[in-house]
Amino acid sequence: MTVLFLATGNEGKLREFQELLLGTGLLLEVVDTRVPETGDSYSANAALKAEAAARSRAGPALGDDSGLEVAALGGYPGLLSARIAPTQAEREALLFERLCPHPKPWRARFVCLLALALPGRPTLSFRGEAAGEIREPAGRGQGFGYDPVFWPSGSLLSFAELPPIEKHSLSHRGAAVRALLASGALASLSRPSERGESRR
Ligand code: IMP
Repeated sequence: MTVLFLATGNEGKLREFQELLLGTGLLLEVVDTRVPETGDSYSANAALKAEAAARSRAGPALGDDSGLEVAALGGYPGLLSARIAPTQAEREALLFERLCPHPKPWRARFVCLLALALPGRPTLSFRGEAAGEIREPAGRGQGFGYDPVFWPSGSLLSFAELPPIEKHSLSHRGAAVRALLASGALASLSRPSERGESRR
């Protein structure tokens, strides 16, 4: 089995990547790199995480940088989604405080940038988005992060209330992972025998 390192300290992201990469023959191993997110874009931060993990383990590594962008707030909190307040409850309170003066619907989107760092090769990046709106929380205790306050377009349930497989089919992370899989970049990591090819 081929090991793919995942640069994250976020248990919600880890669970989702394990589900999304099930059946690919890749074994995910977490590397908590704790690199400062000093990039000025999701893709720069995703690359910083993936490259730090690839360097420390001398193997292929994935990094995810993602955020919630609210249209009425000019894309806030965006890159700062994890950092606008110390706890998730405070982050959501701050979001609603800022949204209050604005008329509903509160349109928003999630963005995910995935970086795949391969030692000795240029880092690749894959993007996924999920459009929807912010509403009063539903499904607390399920999902992670801003899941309880985000309704993907056309859904009667918040991200937190959706069964994981349905969240993946609509989510920014699901879309980014599908782009990664479609690129064939991961297939090139596994050995020929794992790709069902025989050696002559
Ligand atoms: P970062 O990628 O570590 O900078 O953090 C991303 C921020 O967006 C964190 O606050 C996450 O909780 C949040 N976030 C990213 N993806 C999701 C998601 O799928 N559901 C809910 N919150 C998310």
